[in-house]
Amino acid sequence: MNRYQRCDLPRGEADDFGAALISGLTGTPKNLPCRYLYDELGSRLFEAICALDDYYPTRCEREILIAHAGELARSFAGHGVVELGSGNSEKTVVLLEAFGGAVHYVPVDIDPEVLDRAGQRLLGVLPDLRVTALAGEYGAGMARAAEVIAGPKLVVLLGGNVGNFTRAGATDFLAGLGGRLGPEDALLLGADLRKEAAVLELAYDDPTGVTAAFSLNLLGRANRELGGNFDQRAFRHVAHYEEREGVVGLFLESLEQQRVSVAGRRFDFAAGERIHIEDSTKYSLAELTALAEQAGFELAEHWLDGSRRYSLNLLRPTGRD
Ligand SMILES: C[S@@+](CC[C@H](N)C(=O)[O-])C[C@H]1O[C@@H](n2cnc3c(N)ncnc32)[C@H](O)[C@@H]1O
Repeated sequence: MNRYQRCDLPRGEADDFGAALISGLTGTPKNLPCRYLYDELGSRLFEAICALDDYYPTRCEREILIAHAGELARSFAGHGVVELGSGNSEKTVVLLEAFGGAVHYVPVDIDPEVLDRAGQRLLGVLPDLRVTALAGEYGAGMARAAEVIAGPKLVVLLGGNVGNFTRAGATDFLAGLGGRLGPEDALLLGADLRKEAAVLELAYDDPTGVTAAFSLNLLGRANRELGGNFDQRAFRHVAHYEEREGVVGLFLESLEQQRVSVAGRRFDFAAGERIHIEDSTKYSLAELTALAEQAGFELAEHWLDGSRRYSLNLLRPTGRD
């Protein structure tokens, strides 16, 4: 039996980069959806971010997984593991190893290349693992995962991906996900916590410029895929923490007045004008408890790393609408 299979899911309207770019750059303020940060180069740059000292979430999440993987494996023995936005699955290995490796793992990601790379690496370290990779968007991936895994499932959402939704968007997203879960299923949710602005802004704007390169690659991708003429040197990466809202906003700021052609259209930028490219929403324990409840889950476990910067949460569906 082939232990690795990749299935490319049907693309929806939201997968059209050109349409999203035209709509985002004609909007006020200008914006681009963060999912387009992850082409092949973007995924590799994100992996480089994960290795930075200042980017604490990866390190903290791995620490919590190491501490609790055994307990999770005992609770969810016999479950399939579905991971949404799996990236390189580097931390998930800890969990899959604790399961004894004989698991059906279904990673879902919009970047097919990162799925193939992660899949091959996983099979090398876990000889009993079976991987069905789903290349596509969360919603389509979750629908297909329910068909691929006949039995109970542990759904995993790591890397603080939930933070890329607004608070209301996260409730809707989790409620939709919960609608696809049975009574034995559960959701393992990594969520970054509210903390001092200085720590957050350094995590999202490191002095070595790796995060800036990751953001600016969005313009490079528009040049490569949509025939654009963005000059990446004429924009700068900005990370700003809005403390009251608990949201780190990421922007590309035009350094000068300029006109750019892309996707067959022209767009004018004033000096200092920003394109909003990503939000990373931070949570308190009270906010996570409320999020779980409003989305039809119970927050069964809430684990922290030693520095209390990051949380891993086990959510069980309550079965209410
Ligand atoms: C912040 S990275 C986290 C990767 C990994 N979970 C980790 O913890 O290191 C986000 C990942 O989610 C994927 N992604 C982003 N938006 C997505 C969407 N709407 N549907 C499916 N995958 C998505 C990206 O391609 C990327 O690999």
